[in-house]
Amino acid sequence: MTKLTKSDILGIGTSVPERVLTNFDLEKMVDTNDEWIRTRTGIRERRIIDDDENVSDLAARAARAAVADAGLSMEEIDLVLVASGSPEMIWPSTACLVQEKLGIKGCPAFDIQAACAGFVYGLAVADSFVSSGLYRRILFIGAEAMTRFLDWTDRGTCILFGDGAGAVVLGQAEESYGLLSHYLAADGSGADMLKIPAGGSGVSGERGAQTIHMRGNEVYKFAVKKLPAAVAGALEQAGMTVADVDYCVPHQANKRIIDAAVERLGLPREKVVGNLEQYGNTSTASIPLSLEKLVRSGDLKRGDIVVTAAVGAGLTWGANVIRWSGAAGGTG
Ligand code: UT7
Repeated sequence: MTKLTKSDILGIGTSVPERVLTNFDLEKMVDTNDEWIRTRTGIRERRIIDDDENVSDLAARAARAAVADAGLSMEEIDLVLVASGSPEMIWPSTACLVQEKLGIKGCPAFDIQAACAGFVYGLAVADSFVSSGLYRRILFIGAEAMTRFLDWTDRGTCILFGDGAGAVVLGQAEESYGLLSHYLAADGSGADMLKIPAGGSGVSGERGAQTIHMRGNEVYKFAVKKLPAAVAGALEQAGMTVADVDYCVPHQANKRIIDAAVERLGLPREKVVGNLEQYGNTSTASIPLSLEKLVRSGDLKRGDIVVTAAVGAGLTWGANVIRWSGAAGGTG
């Protein structure tokens, strides 16, 4: 029988488009204002993918940085996974498109769809593959071109989202380090609250359907409850409590959701890491973008306990607990 091992983050890399869209730019496009957006969401600006780029380009750039950070070559990757709420097309998967851009031949590649909770779900999937011994080195990317799915006349959604990508390489962990636990959940009865109705086989060509439709207030209330529940669930599975947490890396949807969740958990605000001001809601990319920021800050130390958490369309939610080894970003 294959020995069960834990997996660890061996490398991390990110990529964001250069074009910045500020709240003041949005004031000229739709009936909104900087003050409303900042106080209701915490967002000041977001990045917008160039017309001549696709989500697989952002993903490939983040992936190259992560593989280099892990000190590996592309030939050593034996599975490519992509989580995206804005995949390039229905199929082939964005993972296959990225695999080709990276010049990796033959290894399996597929996408994971759990909307904004995709990174949390994907870490669990990748960890299971490493633990089972099926794959040794997994490249996992959260990548988004969310702005391609925005209705720029809908002020309830177009102010929220941005584009970007974050990638990690997962491989075998040292004893007691790496990914310690996962908590994943879904409730399909909330499917209607947040969706992109067209683009699949369900609705054909309905005008305006291929954009994000959101009942913001309901999603907000759901997220405020489920984000802390996910953190608590993953900590319980790791045999830990909130007092053990050194850093919390929540999905960046709305500053008020994060503040409420943190307060419910009794987590000190200085332990919470984010990038909402700068990037807005980058869906599956928001956690790796924040994690990379934490890694580069130099604050993260070997042995620190990091908790990620997210809520997304589906509805989906979940969290992961990691004991940081320092393998990624030279932080050990
Ligand atoms: O990644 C996971 C998925 N997404 C989320 O987690 C998002 C969850 N939801 C939210 O973040 C919030 O619900 C929003 C930021 C989308 C909206 O904030 P809110 O505090 O729930 O506002 P609201 O929808 O209750 O609207 C309050 C007022 C309304 O005006 P009236 O009816 O009170 O006169 C809206 O029409 O604010 C108005 N409003 C705006 N005003 C200026 C809504 N959007 C805007 C806007 N600019 N962009």
